[in-house]
Amino acid sequence: MNSGSNNNEKALEVRTHDIPIAEVMTDFMMQGWAPSPLTGITSHPSIPYTKIRREKLSKQYVGKRLIFPCGSLKVRSNDSDFPYRAHSAYSWFTGIVASDCVPDSLFVMEPNGSSHDALLFIHPRSPRDSDEFYKNARHGEFWIGRRMTLEETETKYQLKVRQIESIEEFLTDSKETLLVRGQDSVIDRLISENEEAEKEFLNFISIMRAVKDQYEIDEMQKAIDASVRGFADMVRVFPAATSVPRGERVIEAAFYGRARLEGNDNGYPSIVASGAHACILHWIKNDGDVLPGDLILIDAGVEVESHYTADITRTFPVNGKFTQAQRKIYMIVYKAQQAGIAAVKPGAKFKDFHNACMVEIAKGAAELGVLPMTPEESLKPENGLHRRWQFHGSGHHLGIDVHDCSHARKEQYAEAVLEAGMILTVEPGFYIQPDDTLFPEEYRGVGVRIEDDILVTQSGAKILSNALPRHPDEVEAYMAKLLK
Ligand code: GLY
Ligand code: MN
Ligand code: MN
Repeated sequence: MNSGSNNNEKALEVRTHDIPIAEVMTDFMMQGWAPSPLTGITSHPSIPYTKIRREKLSKQYVGKRLIFPCGSLKVRSNDSDFPYRAHSAYSWFTGIVASDCVPDSLFVMEPNGSSHDALLFIHPRSPRDSDEFYKNARHGEFWIGRRMTLEETETKYQLKVRQIESIEEFLTDSKETLLVRGQDSVIDRLISENEEAEKEFLNFISIMRAVKDQYEIDEMQKAIDASVRGFADMVRVFPAATSVPRGERVIEAAFYGRARLEGNDNGYPSIVASGAHACILHWIKNDGDVLPGDLILIDAGVEVESHYTADITRTFPVNGKFTQAQRKIYMIVYKAQQAGIAAVKPGAKFKDFHNACMVEIAKGAAELGVLPMTPEESLKPENGLHRRWQFHGSGHHLGIDVHDCSHARKEQYAEAVLEAGMILTVEPGFYIQPDDTLFPEEYRGVGVRIEDDILVTQSGAKILSNALPRHPDEVEAYMAKLLK
């Protein structure tokens, strides 16, 4: 059976530290429980939006069964699992929020004539007439807390809900099926693979998410606002971070506290990169010292309960004041970002804002005297020497995944035209490696990135993360206020 045959279930069967339960105790545990229904459940605000998404999907795949696993728990070691996070496509088509997601659930779009029925298969709450509620450390509510019943889930999410135990029988017919593969090993085995068709399916459900609806825009703003508060939490602990070894961890922990308090989790591992660590793009070890006089680059985002995430980067002077050299590099990035944001508007190509950023990066490098050709020459695709100092792209789609729409093809992404409702990041950077001898000593190991979350509007762009200062004077004033 689905949940019974996953690897992580096996680890539970061999727990020799479990205390045997006597028969008399088993009988005793079946009696004396009052009913405990949830009261006041209302339908979730995502419902009008998820219905529209499903209708669009249904039209594209008439007659085909479509399966979206919520995903299984991933074993960390023995019977310990990594924190659970539902698969994004499952979340996007059902609207089920993190605290209501049950591992191993499946969302099925079942063909019915020219449309589909929306069916959800879950492991509901354990009734008191089976011993699961206290014996099963994976599912029992004495162990992990209460889940919703089938009826409660139907009321909240307006889907037809069935027991996951019935899924194997449900899938025995030979209906043509498309599956989001790799999330649930049991279902992967039950459904034969058609690689090409599944690739096309992943592509379609990926680009469907490019233009956000109002529910999504509101959730994104919540994620961003919580993240902005998380950045303030981090700045407040700078003095504590400088007073201990591995101070990056102090700062990382401050943001995580905010993410757990206001949201579900971090949307991705925070990058807390002090000094030359800023030049390592995916610095997530976060075990460095934080030294006054250095810059610190922080890239972090809160994922809210609906699974939408922010993605924000700021680079701060640890002691609250930029040096002249730091400010010079910072201003190149600041100008690049301003140019990038100005290039975000409906009708422009996605790649335009990156190109606008790169003009400023190339000009900045030339002004610093490190570019061995003119910026114009460097900007030609056959050269690109300025990319030595920003070798990553200048942004991406953002939503329920930090790198949203990632199964889109090039012509649907970099080459595609921006439309109102898209949400992107604009995040240029300038990173001078500590061993870059093209630069004088004082510039080496300086890394700056500024990243904001931008909504494409009818008339241009709205910076959803505008509440967090960007200009170096504003950054200094902001820090002075937080640290006084
Ligand atoms: N935090 C990942 C990124 O900026 O793309
Ligand atoms: Mn980022
Ligand atoms: Mn980003």
